[in-house]
This record gives sequence, C-alpha cells and structure tokens, in this order.
Amino acid sequence: MTSDRETAIRTLISEIDAYLARYAGPGIAEVRAGIARWRGGPMREVPAQRIPQTRHIDAALDWMEVNGDRRLAHAIRDAMPYLAWIAYDPYPRDLIGATYAENHCMASLIGQGGQIRGVDFDLGLFGFGPDILYRDHRHAAPELYAPLTGPHGWRFQSGASLDWRSSFQPVWNEPWAHHAFKSGPTPYFCVFGWTKDVNVPAEMIFEPDWATIEQQSAPI
Ligand SMILES: [Fe+2]
Repeated sequence: MTSDRETAIRTLISEIDAYLARYAGPGIAEVRAGIARWRGGPMREVPAQRIPQTRHIDAALDWMEVNGDRRLAHAIRDAMPYLAWIAYDPYPRDLIGATYAENHCMASLIGQGGQIRGVDFDLGLFGFGPDILYRDHRHAAPELYAPLTGPHGWRFQSGASLDWRSSFQPVWNEPWAHHAFKSGPTPYFCVFGWTKDVNVPAEMIFEPDWATIEQQSAPI
C-alpha cells in the first residue's frame, strides 16, 4: 500500500515536472530528463528534518498562496512533513558570510541523499531569507534554478550590478559559470536541478563589493 509520505513526495515531483514543462529555456529539458530517469525508483526512509531556517520556506509558501503558483505551493505544503531540510555548507564561513550561512536551507527530492535515489543528478527545493545576497560562487554542476518567488536580483560577472527579475524566470548556469543573487523582501525560494558533476564542491569567488551589494534593496 502506498503511504501518505510516498504519495506526497511523488505528487510533488509530478507537480514540479508539470511546472517545468511550461518552460522551454536552456536546461529545462536536461532537468526533466533526469526526473524521468529517476522518478520511478523506490522511496527511501529519509528522516524528516526541520531546521530553524525552514521558517523562510513557510513564508515563501504563504507568498505563493497569494502571488504565485498555488497548485505547486499546495503540493509542497503536503510534502513538508516528510522533507529533510539541511544547510548546504561547502563554503568557508568568512567568505559566504554568517547571514547567508544561517538563513538558507535545501531539501533533496531526487539525488544521492534524496527521497528517491538519483546518480549524478539532484532535484530539490532551496531557499533563503529576505534581503540576503548569495554571494558570488561557481560549481562544476550545470544548474537550473526555477524561482517560485520574486523579485530576485542576479549577476553573472565580477563587479556587475544586480539585474532584478520577477518570479517564474528560470536561470540556467553552465559549468563553472559565475553567479550571485539576492532576495528582495520575500524569501528566495526555488526548484533547483543539478544535471551532472554533483559531487564536485562549489567554490566562492571573492568580490570586493559584497558590502555595497548587500546594502542595495530590490526596486519597487
Ligand atoms: Fe549555483
């Protein structure tokens, strides 16, 4: 018999796939191919875990109920009791900064530690609190971010100013592509997909203007 947990997780993965199917940009097909490849695998008994920063996900879901994709918000809420939220922590604390380090979290759905095993593929949910810069970094894994809240401000090279965007504008980062992004008054919350080289740790890229960028607010 299918458990409530399995139903909630599999429904969430289906809803994410349906959400991604609305887009045609770079990386969408790669992530959907990974979902198709691994989604039928057996569920693991991953112990559910909430950590303090999961409160930002709750706030993002409240925003989605009013301003965003309600159907996906409901699927995420139904799965929340079973998700294992963790901090992704490969960075030196003095570079990533305490604010980001203490206010972000992710939950893997498909992957090495996911609810369903996936090899060299990761699909999950990721978010962080309001008015926080995820400082410049890069990684081997090609990455799709499908933001469910907004606005969020992006840059893809040293010294650039942030390009503020609304929700529902996926971003695809090629391997080792430079990227940094900042949340606005709403927590940043997204579906992420890493399509290969998932075990190569991400690296920070030191930029001397972090303090300046962190003072900047989202345009109204
Ligand atoms: Fe990234």
